[in-house]
Amino acid sequence: MAIVVLGGAGYIGSHAVDQLIEKGYDVAVVDNLLTGHKEAIHEKARFYQGDIQDKDFLTNVFKQEEVEGVLHFAASSLVGESVEQPLKYFRNNVYGTQVLLEVMAEYQVRNIVFSSTAATYGEPKEVPIKETTETAPKNPYGESKLIMEKMMKWCDQAYGMRYVALRYFNVAGAKLDSTIGEDHTPETHLVPLILQTALGQRKALTIFGDDYATSDGTCVRDYVHVVDLIQAHILALEYLKNGGKSDVFNLGSSEGFSVKEMIESAREITGKEIPAIMGPRRSGDPAILIASPEKAKTILGWNPHYTTIRKMIETAWSWHQSHPNGYGKS
Ligand code: UFG
Repeated sequence: MAIVVLGGAGYIGSHAVDQLIEKGYDVAVVDNLLTGHKEAIHEKARFYQGDIQDKDFLTNVFKQEEVEGVLHFAASSLVGESVEQPLKYFRNNVYGTQVLLEVMAEYQVRNIVFSSTAATYGEPKEVPIKETTETAPKNPYGESKLIMEKMMKWCDQAYGMRYVALRYFNVAGAKLDSTIGEDHTPETHLVPLILQTALGQRKALTIFGDDYATSDGTCVRDYVHVVDLIQAHILALEYLKNGGKSDVFNLGSSEGFSVKEMIESAREITGKEIPAIMGPRRSGDPAILIASPEKAKTILGWNPHYTTIRKMIETAWSWHQSHPNGYGKS
């Protein structure tokens, strides 16, 4: 019986494949390699290169594998790009999920764990954000993920297809042995941009606004280590296999750090200057996003280990130092 990991060559998906295999699962990876990296896929996973929107291709995967569950990471995930190109997000994320759910229904695969996002909450009405906090996405990316959650809700009712939607806050860090990590082109996320600046690959980092209603004026985010994030996925998979009902969980740490605090920590850890210049706000950025992760801890038994900013930056720094130009380019 296999677990199919869609998007298993990406930053988060590759960490999932790695941990599933370490736990003894049999894993098949599906990825179109548009943003993922072949080198990131664990050698013990079977790899199918193709797009989840291609129903014949996906059907063939489900025909060849005896699928007991699905982990779904295959999505476009850049907030800014989604505002410019909303239809790309509805096609890749919503239509891609439509095809996946059709194939799952056909092959009677009943368990799916998938990446949702804090972007489903938009500008949150309360902090820390609970799963009961109103969802009101402010961009097509968050909207597409909320639609995916709703599609799964109705598929559960109709076909008994149970799901866990994990709403991620800001994911950072890399596997502790630095063999896999974050490699995006273009890079838009704060931690890798800070570390590329520390490596001298960028002259300076731009801080997107210091006029927010936060302690130092810069945006506050809740960071979660990718290894802990994946622990929650495996717990969610086991929860579903044990008959758990469909549900939604936040994955964050309940602690917020400002952009300036992140840069300061990185300066301490790397010993590098990391020049930063002040720029205007980036449109669509909420001032503060902090999760309440209590539900995941109580119901899934989630027990994150790498909760300090130091651990996240240290592991990301080791990855960037050992792979200064990402996969296959060092
Ligand atoms: N930032 C800068 N300078 C940069 C890059 C980022 O100041 O060069 C700031 C952003 O304005 C933001 C913070 O650093 O305040 C974090 O930005 P990221 O782009 O790293 O992450 P986001 O908070 O925008 O996005 C993350 C996920 C998204 C998800 C979103 C939920 O990457 O997938 O959280 O709001 F949708």
